[in-house]
Amino acid sequence: MWGGRFAEGPAAVMREINASIPFDKRMWRQDVRGSQAHVAMLGTQGIVSGEDAATIARGLDEVAADFERDGVPDDLALEDIHMLTEARLAERIGPVAGRLHTARSRNDQVATDFRLWVRDATDEVLAAIAALQAALLARAEEHAASVMPGFTHLQSAQPVTLGHHLMAYHEMLRRDASRFGDARRRLNECPLGSAALAGTGFPIDRDATARALGFDRPTRNSLDAVSDRDFALDYLQAATQCALHLSRLAEEFILWASQPFGFVALSDAWSTGSSIMPQKRNPDAAELVRGHAGRIVGATVSLMVTMKGLPLAYSKDMQDDKPPVFEAHDLLGLCLAAMTGMVETATFRTDRMRAVAEAGYATATDLADWLVREAGVPFREAHHITGRAVKRAEDTGVKLDALPLAALTAIDSRIDARVFDVLSVDASVASRTSHGGTAPANVRAAVAAARGETT
Ligand code: ARG
Repeated sequence: MWGGRFAEGPAAVMREINASIPFDKRMWRQDVRGSQAHVAMLGTQGIVSGEDAATIARGLDEVAADFERDGVPDDLALEDIHMLTEARLAERIGPVAGRLHTARSRNDQVATDFRLWVRDATDEVLAAIAALQAALLARAEEHAASVMPGFTHLQSAQPVTLGHHLMAYHEMLRRDASRFGDARRRLNECPLGSAALAGTGFPIDRDATARALGFDRPTRNSLDAVSDRDFALDYLQAATQCALHLSRLAEEFILWASQPFGFVALSDAWSTGSSIMPQKRNPDAAELVRGHAGRIVGATVSLMVTMKGLPLAYSKDMQDDKPPVFEAHDLLGLCLAAMTGMVETATFRTDRMRAVAEAGYATATDLADWLVREAGVPFREAHHITGRAVKRAEDTGVKLDALPLAALTAIDSRIDARVFDVLSVDASVASRTSHGGTAPANVRAAVAAARGETT
């Protein structure tokens, strides 16, 4: 394709280091789409004859059908998907294929193909996030009033509802979807027609190709357009943030599924056994979601470092942009699907969660708040009084709401029988109706609001 001034072919290792076909063949559909839009425009503008444009368009359809049927071969001699597609076109339609590359370079071609690919990938991720959100909403609604211990420092802190806990992840995913949406909007400008770096003297119509490929508009600066990979980094950074969220949810499932917690039983479909310990039921999928987050972070760092310090415009380093994006996309797709499956099918052991919430003196803050509200005690003093009550309960081995009234009034005479209304875990969660609080009524309202939202 470029051998005119070369007397010898490339060394074998040169061929190998130079070739991107083993991975960029994944963009063959986008490559054919971009070429179809380009040749249609060349025909309309009279840059190639209508007849040649029609021949090329038909040839591209045939090449696409071949790829669809037989796959794309790893032909290292042809370097990349752009040259391979063109070579196949020439085999089909002869020398007229050579007119396709008029007013175009592989530099604007690859930038266009890759944007199309990342845009499709973004749409897939958005659908996968929506599926996990739907699963969380269903389980949150089911468990709007199920009490569990809420933690800080992984110590029992205050009772919360399982629905509220699950809705926390729904919020994270809402932000993730919004980040992918932002990335998609910024991505949606078409580099095609920027040519090698400087634009072209041919009377091309960039608005037409942009429109045909579903972009909002053409990019504004040819140098930027062929050397910009922000769209890939935006995708990776959004993917990283999402993967970090999924790894936290995965970690909670891992903890909750362990015997000392016993908060959740994963379904058979989402567990594995041990080859040596018959009693084991391992949360491997959750562990891999937690692990894959590391690889997604790595992919992002890899492309950031590739792009750092590159002069304008295109440099071959940029060919390394695709493997990290492909890898991160595949991993994120697996993680989202696996978490969706786990959330949908998990059995939450609400009896166990309630018992732990009740055992942990988690309503101590409710006692302190009652003293402030009903007896006018300053909060710091109320905190101290409550500490003594907890100590007393601990010493006698009972829950806070099982302390006799006499024991409480002995600690502070301002306490009366009404205090028992707030000491149960149910009363505690029901009272937390502040905006964003854990009360069952709030959870139900949050679920209903989320269902009505579109991201
Ligand atoms: N395979 C190349 C890539 O992925 C295509 C662009 C090559 N451009 C060039 N001038 N060699 O980046």
